[in-house]
Amino acid sequence: MKNRILYTDKLCKTFSNGGVQQHILKNLDVEIYEGDFTVIMGSSGAGKSTLMYSLSGMDKPTLGKIYFSGEEISKYSEDKLAIFRRKNCGFVFQQLYLLDKMSLLDNVLTSGLLVNKNKKDNSCFINGPFCSVNDSCGGKCKGWPHGLTWKSQTQPLYI
Ligand SMILES: Nc1ncnc2c1ncn2[C@@H]1O[C@H](COP(=O)(O)OP(=O)(O)O)[C@@H](O)[C@H]1O
Ligand SMILES: [Mg+2]
Repeated sequence: MKNRILYTDKLCKTFSNGGVQQHILKNLDVEIYEGDFTVIMGSSGAGKSTLMYSLSGMDKPTLGKIYFSGEEISKYSEDKLAIFRRKNCGFVFQQLYLLDKMSLLDNVLTSGLLVNKNKKDNSCFINGPFCSVNDSCGGKCKGWPHGLTWKSQTQPLYI
Protein backbone atom coordinates (compact mmCIF):
# COMPACT_ATOMS: atom_id res chain seq x y z
CA MET A 1 0.00 0.00 0.00
CA LYS A 2 1.27 3.46 -0.84
CA ASN A 3 2.47 5.76 1.91
CA ARG A 4 0.54 9.02 2.36
CA ILE A 5 3.65 11.17 2.73
CA LEU A 6 2.02 14.60 2.78
CA TYR A 7 -1.55 15.56 3.63
CA THR A 8 -3.62 18.42 4.93
CA ASP A 9 -6.58 18.59 7.26
CA LYS A 10 -9.01 21.43 6.47
CA LEU A 11 -6.27 23.78 5.29
CA CYS A 12 -7.31 27.44 5.12
CA LYS A 13 -5.40 30.50 3.98
CA THR A 14 -6.94 33.93 4.15
CA PHE A 15 -5.34 37.19 3.07
CA SER A 16 -6.47 40.63 4.06
CA ASN A 17 -6.28 42.86 1.02
CA GLY A 18 -7.13 46.47 1.80
CA GLY A 19 -9.30 45.34 4.72
CA VAL A 20 -11.11 42.78 2.55
CA GLN A 21 -10.72 39.15 3.61
CA GLN A 22 -9.81 36.91 0.68
CA HIS A 23 -10.34 33.22 1.44
CA ILE A 24 -7.89 31.61 -0.97
CA LEU A 25 -7.72 28.08 0.47
CA LYS A 26 -10.94 26.88 2.09
CA ASN A 27 -10.94 23.66 4.14
CA LEU A 28 -8.64 21.94 1.70
CA ASP A 29 -7.85 18.25 2.20
CA VAL A 30 -4.89 17.31 -0.01
CA GLU A 31 -3.25 13.89 -0.06
CA ILE A 32 0.12 13.23 -1.70
CA TYR A 33 1.42 9.67 -1.88
CA GLU A 34 5.09 8.73 -1.84
CA GLY A 35 6.47 8.03 -5.30
CA ASP A 36 3.59 9.74 -7.08
CA PHE A 37 4.10 12.53 -9.57
CA THR A 38 1.40 15.04 -8.65
CA VAL A 39 0.43 18.11 -10.63
CA ILE A 40 -1.53 21.04 -9.24
CA MET A 41 -3.43 22.89 -11.94
CA GLY A 42 -5.66 25.93 -11.85
CA SER A 43 -6.24 29.32 -13.40
CA SER A 44 -4.07 32.28 -12.49
CA GLY A 45 -4.97 33.50 -8.99
CA ALA A 46 -6.63 30.21 -8.03
CA GLY A 47 -4.20 29.71 -5.14
CA LYS A 48 -1.59 27.25 -6.50
CA SER A 49 1.41 29.20 -5.20
CA THR A 50 -0.38 29.85 -1.89
CA LEU A 51 -0.89 26.11 -1.52
CA MET A 52 2.73 25.33 -2.38
CA TYR A 53 3.99 27.92 0.12
CA SER A 54 1.84 26.33 2.83
CA LEU A 55 2.71 22.72 2.01
CA SER A 56 6.42 23.52 2.03
CA GLY A 57 6.30 25.49 5.27
CA MET A 58 7.35 28.74 3.61
CA ASP A 59 4.14 30.30 4.86
CA LYS A 60 1.84 29.40 7.75
CA PRO A 61 -1.76 28.40 7.10
CA THR A 62 -4.46 30.55 8.67
CA LEU A 63 -6.23 27.43 9.93
CA GLY A 64 -5.92 23.70 9.48
CA LYS A 65 -3.07 21.25 9.73
CA ILE A 66 -0.33 19.95 7.46
CA TYR A 67 1.33 16.58 8.02
CA PHE A 68 4.55 15.33 6.47
CA SER A 69 5.75 11.81 7.16
CA GLY A 70 3.34 11.53 10.11
CA GLU A 71 4.44 14.79 11.78
CA GLU A 72 2.41 17.95 11.97
CA ILE A 73 4.68 20.49 10.29
CA SER A 74 2.14 23.32 10.60
CA LYS A 75 3.05 23.65 14.26
CA TYR A 76 6.84 23.67 13.68
CA SER A 77 8.90 26.72 14.65
CA GLU A 78 10.55 28.76 11.87
CA ASP A 79 13.91 27.11 12.64
CA LYS A 80 12.44 23.62 12.45
CA LEU A 81 10.66 24.52 9.23
CA ALA A 82 13.95 25.71 7.72
CA ILE A 83 15.51 22.32 8.45
CA PHE A 84 12.42 20.53 7.14
CA ARG A 85 12.63 22.46 3.85
CA ARG A 86 16.35 21.90 3.52
CA LYS A 87 15.99 18.15 3.95
CA ASN A 88 12.74 17.47 2.15
CA CYS A 89 11.85 20.15 -0.37
CA GLY A 90 13.24 21.12 -3.73
CA PHE A 91 11.89 24.16 -5.49
CA VAL A 92 12.16 25.50 -8.99
CA PHE A 93 10.82 29.05 -8.72
CA GLN A 94 9.56 31.07 -11.65
CA GLN A 95 12.34 33.50 -10.73
CA LEU A 96 15.72 32.00 -9.90
CA TYR A 97 16.62 33.94 -6.71
CA LEU A 98 20.34 33.29 -7.22
CA LEU A 99 22.74 34.91 -4.75
CA ASP A 100 24.82 37.43 -6.70
CA LYS A 101 27.76 37.24 -4.30
CA MET A 102 28.31 33.56 -5.13
CA SER A 103 29.35 31.85 -8.33
CA LEU A 104 26.69 29.84 -10.08
CA LEU A 105 28.46 26.68 -8.98
CA ASP A 106 28.37 27.77 -5.32
CA ASN A 107 24.70 28.70 -5.66
CA VAL A 108 23.98 25.17 -6.82
CA LEU A 109 26.15 23.47 -4.19
CA THR A 110 25.20 25.49 -1.12
CA SER A 111 21.99 23.66 -0.23
CA GLY A 112 23.83 20.33 -0.57
CA LEU A 113 26.60 21.53 1.74
CA LEU A 114 24.03 22.64 4.31
CA VAL A 115 22.64 19.11 4.55
CA ASN A 116 26.16 17.74 5.04
CA LYS A 117 26.56 16.25 1.60
CA ASN A 118 30.13 15.06 1.53
CA LYS A 119 32.81 16.20 -0.86
CA LYS A 120 32.54 13.02 -2.90
CA ASP A 121 28.94 13.85 -3.82
CA ASN A 122 29.99 17.33 -4.87
CA SER A 123 32.94 16.15 -6.91
CA CYS A 124 30.68 13.71 -8.78
CA PHE A 125 28.42 16.63 -9.62
CA ILE A 126 31.23 19.06 -10.48
CA ASN A 127 33.15 16.60 -12.62
CA GLY A 128 30.06 15.03 -14.15
CA PRO A 129 26.88 16.85 -15.18
CA PHE A 130 28.03 20.32 -14.08
CA CYS A 131 31.26 19.97 -16.05
CA SER A 132 29.47 19.22 -19.29
CA VAL A 133 27.04 22.12 -18.80
CA ASN A 134 29.96 24.38 -17.88
CA ASP A 135 31.77 23.31 -21.05
CA SER A 136 28.72 23.99 -23.20
CA CYS A 137 28.50 27.46 -21.57
CA GLY A 138 32.13 28.21 -22.40
CA GLY A 139 33.24 27.74 -18.76
CA LYS A 140 31.06 30.60 -17.55
CA CYS A 141 29.18 28.58 -14.89
CA LYS A 142 32.03 28.98 -12.45
CA GLY A 143 31.60 32.74 -12.69
CA TRP A 144 29.00 35.12 -11.29
CA PRO A 145 25.38 34.51 -12.19
CA HIS A 146 24.72 38.14 -13.20
CA GLY A 147 27.10 37.80 -16.16
CA LEU A 148 25.10 34.91 -17.59
CA THR A 149 22.04 34.66 -19.75
CA TRP A 150 18.90 33.23 -18.17
CA LYS A 151 19.41 30.03 -20.15
CA SER A 152 22.98 29.61 -18.88
CA GLN A 153 21.85 30.35 -15.32
CA THR A 154 19.11 27.74 -15.40
CA GLN A 155 20.95 24.84 -17.08
CA PRO A 156 23.07 23.77 -14.06
CA LEU A 157 20.09 24.21 -11.74
CA TYR A 158 18.07 21.53 -13.49
CA ILE A 159 20.71 18.81 -13.65
N1 LIG B 1 0.93 37.66 0.32
C1 LIG B 1 -0.28 37.91 -0.17
N2 LIG B 1 -1.02 38.93 0.31
C2 LIG B 1 -2.25 39.17 -0.16
N3 LIG B 1 -2.85 38.46 -1.14
C3 LIG B 1 -2.16 37.46 -1.67
C4 LIG B 1 -0.84 37.12 -1.22
N4 LIG B 1 -0.39 36.04 -1.93
C5 LIG B 1 -1.38 35.72 -2.78
N5 LIG B 1 -2.44 36.57 -2.64
C6 LIG B 1 -3.68 36.51 -3.39
O1 LIG B 1 -4.13 35.16 -3.37
C7 LIG B 1 -4.68 34.81 -4.63
C8 LIG B 1 -4.02 33.54 -5.13
O2 LIG B 1 -2.67 33.83 -5.47
P1 LIG B 1 -1.66 32.71 -5.93
O3 LIG B 1 -1.62 31.64 -4.92
O4 LIG B 1 -0.39 33.41 -6.24
O5 LIG B 1 -2.36 32.16 -7.25
P2 LIG B 1 -1.76 31.22 -8.42
O6 LIG B 1 -0.41 30.77 -8.01
O7 LIG B 1 -2.76 30.10 -8.56
O8 LIG B 1 -1.74 32.08 -9.64
C9 LIG B 1 -4.52 36.01 -5.55
O9 LIG B 1 -5.75 36.71 -5.55
C10 LIG B 1 -3.46 36.82 -4.87
O10 LIG B 1 -3.64 38.19 -5.10
MG1 LIG C 1 1.53 30.98 -8.87
